[in-house]
Amino acid sequence: MNHPDESALLQAREAAARSPLDAYWMPFTANRQFKKAPRLLTKASGMHYWDASGRQILDAVAGLWCVNAGHARPRIVQAIQAQAAEMDFAPPFQMAHPKAFELAERVAAIAPPGMDKVFFTNSGSEAVETALKMALAYHRVRGEASRTRLIGRERGYHGVNFGGISVGGIAANRKMFGNMLGGVDHIRHTHDLARNAFSVGLPEHGAEAADDLERLVALHDASTIAAVIVEPVAGSTGVLLPPRGYLERLREICDRHGILLIFDEVITGFGRTGQPFAAQTFGVLPDLMTLAKGLTNGSVPMGAVLAQGKVHDTFMTGPEKAIEFFHGYTYSAHPLACAAGIATLDTYAEEGLLTRAGELQDYFAQALHSLEGEPHVIDLRNVGLVGGIELAPAPGAPAQRAFDVFIDCYERGLLLRTTGDIIALSPPLIIQRGQIDQIVETLRGALRRVA
Ligand SMILES: Cc1ncc(COP(=O)(O)O)c(C=O)c1O
Repeated sequence: MNHPDESALLQAREAAARSPLDAYWMPFTANRQFKKAPRLLTKASGMHYWDASGRQILDAVAGLWCVNAGHARPRIVQAIQAQAAEMDFAPPFQMAHPKAFELAERVAAIAPPGMDKVFFTNSGSEAVETALKMALAYHRVRGEASRTRLIGRERGYHGVNFGGISVGGIAANRKMFGNMLGGVDHIRHTHDLARNAFSVGLPEHGAEAADDLERLVALHDASTIAAVIVEPVAGSTGVLLPPRGYLERLREICDRHGILLIFDEVITGFGRTGQPFAAQTFGVLPDLMTLAKGLTNGSVPMGAVLAQGKVHDTFMTGPEKAIEFFHGYTYSAHPLACAAGIATLDTYAEEGLLTRAGELQDYFAQALHSLEGEPHVIDLRNVGLVGGIELAPAPGAPAQRAFDVFIDCYERGLLLRTTGDIIALSPPLIIQRGQIDQIVETLRGALRRVA
C-alpha cells in the first residue's frame, strides 16, 4: 500500500497527465478560450520570446510593461543566482539585510528631489495599498484624522486589491466585488477623442479636467480628503495621456487644499517616458509614488512606495522604540528582489536606458503615426516609448477587433497587449529602430486583414 501522501501525489500526477492545462486558473484571461489554443512562452532573451513551438516573437510590450532592459540580462540573472545561494530570505520586521538599504539608496538617487524614502512591497497592487494607507496614517499622525477620503480617477487602474479597485475607475474590475472601500470618490478622466485624436505627444486640450477636483472639494470639504491618486500616463485603461498643463493643475489644487498627490508610476517608472520617472518628464512632483515592474526588470516580483522626506519624517515623532507605521509584508525587500533590483539599476545606468525612450521617441512617434488612415484606426497616441492605437469597435462586438489584431500579430511573431479596442505598445527600452519598423509594419498588415 502506498503512504497516504504518496497516493495523493500519484493521483495528482494522473490528473495532470489527463489534462495538463486544467488546474491553473489563469489571471485576467479568457481561460476556456486560452486552453483551446494555448499561447505558451518557453524562453526569452533580449527583445524576444520563443513559444513552445520554437517560434521567435518580438516583444512589443516588455512582457507586461516591466522588462525595460530586455529579457534575461546576464547581470540580473547572475545577481539572482548568487543571492539565492548566499542568503535566500531574511525577515524584514525588526531585522534587515544590507541589499535592502543599498537598493533603497539607489532608487532614491534617481528619484525626483526630496523623494528619498523607499518602502518595499511585492507588486504594484501592494504598492498602491501601501501608499493609500500611508496617506491616511500621515494625516492622522499630524493631527488631521478627519482626512480619510481617497480620490481616484475614472478609468484609472491601480491594481486589483480592494483599495486599488476602489480608487480605480475601470467598471469590469469593480462591478463583481461588492461595495469596496467607503469614502472614495473619482474625478473625471481626461480622454477626449473629439478634441485630441491623433495628437503627437501630449494632447493640447483638457487641462481643465483637473478642476474636477475642486468640484469634489466643494462637495466633500477639503478637511475630509487625504489624497488623490492618478497614473501620470494611464496604461492599463488604454494609454491615456495627460493633457498639457493637467498634472500641474492637479498639483496646484492639491497644494491649495492640503491634499497629498500620489502618482502611480507602476508602468511609467524606470525610463518609460524618457526620464527615470514620469514625474521628471512632466516636471510635477507628487508626495508619494508607487513603483513596481521595471524596478527589477520584471525578474523577481517587487514593488515600492517612494515618499517625500516630509511624509516619512512626520511618522518619526513618537517614542523611539515604537513601530511608526504598522504595515509591511513577509516578502518586503526580499533578498532576491533586492539583488535583482540593484543589478537592474546597474544595467539601466550602464546602457543609458532611463533616458533612451527620450532619444527614440520622435522615431517611434513617426512610425506609429504612419498608421493614421489604416482600417479601423480612430486614434494614435504616444509619449516616450509608449504607444496607443485605438480602434473603432466592431459592431455589436466590443474588444473583438483589437483581440483579433493581437492574435493575428502573435501568429506572425509579435506580442502586443490590448484593453478593450485599444492596442498598447511599450517595448523594452533596448529596442532598435528596425524593430520599431517591424512592429508597425506587422500591425499595419494585421489592421488590413482583420474584419
Ligand atoms: C498603474 C498601475 N498600478 C498598479 C498596477 C498593479 O501592479 P501589479 O499587477 O504588479 O499588482 C499596475 C499593473 O499593470 C498598473 O499599471
